[in-house]
Amino acid sequence: MSHNRGTILVTGATGGLGCAIASRIASSREFGAYHGIFTVRDTKTATALHAALKSAKQTPMSSHLHEDIKISLDLSRLDRVREAAAHINGLVEAGSIPPLAAIILNAGYEEFGEQTWTDDGLDTSFVVNYLGHWLLTLLILRSMDREKGRIVWISSWAQNPEDRRNVMNRSFRDDKYKTMVDTDLEPLAKGTWSPNKNGESIWKAGYRRYGASKVCGVAMIHELQKRLDQDPRLSKISVLAIDPAAMATGIVRHTSWLVRVLVFRIFAGVLAPFLVRIHPNGTWRTPQKSARDVLAVALDNGPPPLSERPKGLYFNGSELGDYSSEAKDLSKGQVIWEGSVRFSQLKENETILQI
Ligand SMILES: NC(=O)c1ccc[n+]([C@@H]2O[C@H](COP(=O)([O-])OP(=O)(O)OC[C@H]3O[C@@H](n4cnc5c(N)ncnc54)[C@H](OP(=O)(O)O)[C@@H]3O)[C@@H](O)[C@H]2O)c1
Repeated sequence: MSHNRGTILVTGATGGLGCAIASRIASSREFGAYHGIFTVRDTKTATALHAALKSAKQTPMSSHLHEDIKISLDLSRLDRVREAAAHINGLVEAGSIPPLAAIILNAGYEEFGEQTWTDDGLDTSFVVNYLGHWLLTLLILRSMDREKGRIVWISSWAQNPEDRRNVMNRSFRDDKYKTMVDTDLEPLAKGTWSPNKNGESIWKAGYRRYGASKVCGVAMIHELQKRLDQDPRLSKISVLAIDPAAMATGIVRHTSWLVRVLVFRIFAGVLAPFLVRIHPNGTWRTPQKSARDVLAVALDNGPPPLSERPKGLYFNGSELGDYSSEAKDLSKGQVIWEGSVRFSQLKENETILQI
């Protein structure tokens, strides 16, 4: 086996799922020959990632050959995204690491209370979950492995108003929330679609914005894929998405004590290891099971539906899943694309893809 199989990039690597992915890369023999780049908001405070990597490397199965690279990247800052991308491109160009075999767009942010905006005046959930990831991907396309590179968007059932769990929680019950993307991306980008308003459940407003940001990412399994397919240099790269489902992680850190501690930490933390054995792709999962699924989507060549170059697929854990009709709609994909170029102020000379 080659000692240099490529580089795996994971964003938000100090969170619950990110740590589980990093830990699996560092501890499993099958990933021993990959390099890891782990981006975190701030490397100085990424104690969970440092601890996870240290303990993973002490496991008997670990045969990790390469030094991990940790990069500070605040995805709400597009200038920081540009800096991190330049750093990663520099490492690949200099031959310090092999090209990127997989980009796992994992960092996530959800508002359950106050609505916030970035310094550029954009909705924070939109930028962290989608636009920052989109820009990063476009900027580092030049560093991707052109034979087998895969881009993986971490999704959520929040993106699909028709998902039975969203029907049950009634977040999208009002007709005005059934359509997220209209003819312009601006309402999503500026957070005027589903803003926090007095008299309405703030939890639901933030949840819908989170869902809308996820729709934009999922739409890329068609829109970005179509554009990559049109470029003979990049046409072998795949774009995929996966829902890891509900896990006891920090994603609910801005919610009430009841949800954070009782539902996620106690109920999910204790019961998910059992539930996942009965329903591996059910509502509640462990970060470890989802990390396994994410890495399979990012790197495995089979069994079906995975193949050497799987394209345009949406996974619910380890099986194919359904997703929002808006994300499947190519005309909406075009709207999301044009808005992404506009709000990221991406210039033609910044990416090797024709925009
Ligand atoms: N947990 C669930 O129930 C669930 C369900 C469906 C989908 N997901 C998705 O799974 C992915 C992983 O989330 P998780 O469950 O592991 O939650 P998590 O523990 O909160 O991890 C999310 C990570 O994203 C990072 N992040 C937040 N804002 C950022 C920013 N501005 N710049 C850079 N990084 C930022 C966080 O960094 P800090 O630690 O520095 O804040 C954290 O490390 C997310 O995409 C989430 O949407 C989770």
